[in-house]
Amino acid sequence: MGTSSLVFGYCIIITSLFMAVVFGSNIPTRAFFVFGDSLVDSGNNDFLATSARADTPPYGIDFPTHRPTGRFSNGLNIPDLISQQLGLEPTLPYLSPLLQGEKLLVGANFASAGIGILNDTGFQFLHIIHIYKQLKLFQHYQLRLCAHIGKEAAKKHINNALVLITLGGNDFVNNYYLVPYSARSRQFSLPDYVHYLISEYRPILKVLIISQ
Ligand SMILES: *[C@@H]1O[C@H](CO)[C@@H](O)[C@H](O)[C@H]1NC(C)=O
Repeated sequence: MGTSSLVFGYCIIITSLFMAVVFGSNIPTRAFFVFGDSLVDSGNNDFLATSARADTPPYGIDFPTHRPTGRFSNGLNIPDLISQQLGLEPTLPYLSPLLQGEKLLVGANFASAGIGILNDTGFQFLHIIHIYKQLKLFQHYQLRLCAHIGKEAAKKHINNALVLITLGGNDFVNNYYLVPYSARSRQFSLPDYVHYLISEYRPILKVLIISQ
């Protein structure tokens, strides 16, 4: 295993700066939807042709199976801990073939390591699921849920869901600081870059809110 993949995982774990948790109303059986980067990717990138992956030890050494799962963690990740606290099953990666039938009711994890707020963040990792694509997949998910439990029930289930979005660290790590002479760092001073990121985060949150 290359040292670079370890460093990669470590960097994005400590630097995801934008995190928001939005709670729906309190009903006992609720879905959980996860969007974002490696801090919350529970294995989607394992299904993609990308170098941003956590499929080799020591990832997963403290997971119940002691094997890498695609999580950028030695064990459970943040979504797992939230699911556990709420008494829910862990959400499956959206690309997992296991996510079908009744499992759809648990929710889905759309996160993909390497992505950021900006569409060009993470370009070096090739095929990853950028945030607007994650939101598109969320639409596909909703159609599948409608087909499974009917339109009204699906709408209710989605409106009552818990949503976690963890995004923004990679816009610094992989698109500003650690990319020598990056276009973004030549284009923006740090304070201006922060304002730019916030202005680009706003429409993402709007799309997420109207798509629920
Ligand atoms: C990023 O991509 C999405 C979807 O393709 C697009 O709607 C959006 O305008 C793009 N953002 C920027 C800043 O180019």
